[in-house]
Amino acid sequence: MKSIIEELKDKALKELSGLEDLKALRDFKVRFLGKKGEVTRLLKSMKDLSPEERPVFGKLINELKAFVEAKVEEKEVELKELERKRRFEKERLDITLPGRLPRIGGLHPLSQVLGEVVDVFKAMGFQIAEGPEIEEDFYNFEALNIPPDHPARDMQDTFYISERVLLRTHTSPVQVRIMQKYPLPIRIIAPGRVYRRDFDVSHTPMFHQVEGLLVDKKVTFAELKGTLIEFAKRIFGANTEVRFRPSFFPFTEPSAEMDIGCVICKGSGCRVCKGTGWLEILGCGMVDPEVFRSVGLDPLEVTGYAFGLGVERITMLKYGIDDIRLFFENDLRFLSQFV
Ligand code: FA5
Ligand code: MG
Repeated sequence: MKSIIEELKDKALKELSGLEDLKALRDFKVRFLGKKGEVTRLLKSMKDLSPEERPVFGKLINELKAFVEAKVEEKEVELKELERKRRFEKERLDITLPGRLPRIGGLHPLSQVLGEVVDVFKAMGFQIAEGPEIEEDFYNFEALNIPPDHPARDMQDTFYISERVLLRTHTSPVQVRIMQKYPLPIRIIAPGRVYRRDFDVSHTPMFHQVEGLLVDKKVTFAELKGTLIEFAKRIFGANTEVRFRPSFFPFTEPSAEMDIGCVICKGSGCRVCKGTGWLEILGCGMVDPEVFRSVGLDPLEVTGYAFGLGVERITMLKYGIDDIRLFFENDLRFLSQFV
């Protein structure tokens, strides 16, 4: 019996020293110290011993058990440390590698130009106003003197949410909302997104406008022209060519469109200016008496001017970009030129 105990002890030590990971150690523990393990079996075999021998061997077996348990604990510490080292080795970072510089982002060119446009008008004393992109037919069309079935609706076909609710086709509905809400004098600009059923090199289904509205007593067309020419010179430089063309909008009378010399072809004609040498950047005019009536103002007492400009157009002119769709493709080779 004594030699069996010695043998088992040797065997345990030998096996323990050969263990390489914690899983093997757990298996070893079960095999030696578990309910059906070798030490337990030894304890059970004591029933075959004589009453005198039992306490002697009982003591020896318990010593063996305590010894193996202590060794297992030692081994566990050792193996844990080993596994930690192995993991560190596997997950090792080479901190001597040169770093990669993070890409620095920047404002989208449209945001930059929108900011400049807003700054120019702010410096002239205009306040910023906003209106909803999902708009009622009343504000987008009817209050602006565009009744149902008016041919002007064809030029501003849009996306309808329901028969009376649509994605606004211009920022002009903000004029109506502001005149309904605030007392005179009014001097606002309203930047924002607008939507139309359009798609070619100079038209996208979503684009940005900045509306301008000034309402007071005795406002003149000359003031409108002066303001817009000053705006054009501040954005494009003092030598910018500008022209006003008579035009028509149901909500202004008289109406005009302002063009700027095409910077792509310098006036000789290209696909962007459709061969004319000029690019339209905004529509404008004196607020139509019908619009004043629709918001309860007396057209004999008040006058005003309004304008609406396209932010994409202005950005294209400023940077010589010949396809509006580049703004919305998010190609970093294009965008990174504006950082
Ligand atoms: C209007 O939208 C009028 N509401 C402007 C206005 C306001 C006139 C106040 C009078 C008084 P128009 O449809 O021409 O007008 O558009 C104005 C500008 O938006 C154009 O000069 C052009 O620069 C830009 N624009 C129009 N359609 C598109 C489009 N699909 N994509 C990009 N820019 C566009
Ligand atoms: Mg137009």
